[in-house]
Order: sequence, then structure tokens, then C-alpha cells
Amino acid sequence: MQILIVSGTPGTGKTTISNNVKKYIDVKIISLNELAISENLIEKYDTKRETSVIDNKKIIGFLIELIKEYEKEDPEFLIIESHFSDIVPEQYIDFVIVLRCDPDELYSRLKRRGYKTEKIRENVQSEILGNCVNYFMNKPINTPILEIDTTRASIELITKTVINILTKKVDIKDFYAGKVDWLEKLFQEDRLQTFFD
Ligand SMILES: Nc1ncnc2c1ncn2[C@@H]1O[C@H](COP(=O)(O)OP(=O)(O)OP(=O)(O)O)[C@@H](O)[C@H]1O
Ligand SMILES: [Mg+2]
Repeated sequence: MQILIVSGTPGTGKTTISNNVKKYIDVKIISLNELAISENLIEKYDTKRETSVIDNKKIIGFLIELIKEYEKEDPEFLIIESHFSDIVPEQYIDFVIVLRCDPDELYSRLKRRGYKTEKIRENVQSEILGNCVNYFMNKPINTPILEIDTTRASIELITKTVINILTKKVDIKDFYAGKVDWLEKLFQEDRLQTFFD
């Protein structure tokens, strides 16, 4: 069983893509967000930021037990998806894919979800800064960090790309993190002030 970590800012499509991958290959999925709720691992609710604060230590303990359970079933792949999936200990990481999304498109996706303006801004800013990629850059992992720009790609195309990466049908160098740079794009367009005060 090989483990794929799917990360990305909320709204980039982690859950959608992971569930779609399941239609084509032998894969189990752990959503850390769902695990936090089902195992009651939420420390508190941050009302100002409208987000749950997770007990990281506890969730890692639960996760390791779950990984061991899945190892017995031995699916070809296990996907662990969440915007905080960088908490997964490095010995359990075989692949890392960070889904990316252009700030304007992400803004629309989060707005459609009914997020309040402040929460949308916070998430879009995080995407512009590439936080989810940076969290992995700071981890001593033995596998390259890959990213897929989901902005104008269909769910089917992204799914196929993920499967091609897992089954080594594409050159993963084409997906090495670093190509997506929303900060530079907005700077060039002189639009940074759209998302930052
Ligand atoms: N490639 C895509 N093109 C257009 N819309 C997409 C794409 N991928 C996902 N979406 C839409 O964006 C929304 C967010 O997707 P999803 O819930 O999978 O994101 P997520 O990364 O799992 O977010 P969260 O971190 O909050 O769980 C959904 O409405 C989904 O249908
Ligand atoms: Mg999700």
C-alpha cells in the first residue's frame, strides 16, 4: 500500500478529486476533516476565523492506527486528504500532491459555498502565498512535492492526472511544485490589493 497525501487550500477540490479517483483504482480514502469530527478531535471552534481547531497530537495517533488497519486490507493506494494533511508523519508519505487554484476562481468557489467574505479572503490569501506547499517544503520528506493547477481543468482530467502520477505513466518532473506563483501573477497584473489590504 502506497500513501498519497492530497493537500491544498479549502475549495481546491481535494475531496472531489479523491472520491473520483476511487472510481478508477483500488484506493481507500481518509479525510482528516471527517476524522476530526467523527472521533471528536476538535479542541474548540474559533468563532472569529469560523474554523475548527484540531487536536493535532490526538489526530496523528488516530491516523496511525487507521493506517495500520488499512495496511491489513492492503489496497493499492491510501489517500489522506485535508488542507492540514502536512501533519502526517513523513514515514507514511509516498506521494504529495497539492491542488492549486487561481485566486479569482477560488474566490468564486468559496463564495458559492456560502463562506463569509472574511473567511474567503483568508483562504484566498493563503492560496496566493502557497501556504499548503510551503508546509511540505519545511518537512524532511523523501518524495518531491507535486502540484496540479485545477483552475481550468475538469474534475475528470485532474483525476486522470493524479492516477497517471500514481501509476508512473507521466514524468512527475512536470508537476514539481514551484511553477504556480499567484503572487507573481497578481503583482504583474498590479492586482495584489484586490486580495490584500
Ligand atoms: N476542477 C474543478 N473545477 C471546478 N469546480 C471544482 C473543481 N474541483 C472542485 N470543484 C468544486 O469546488 C468546490 C470545492 O471542492 P471540494 O469540496 O472538493 O474542495 P476541498 O479541497 O475538499 O475543500 P475543503 O478543504 O474545504 O474540504 C466543490 O463545489 C466542487 O464541486
Ligand atoms: Mg474537502
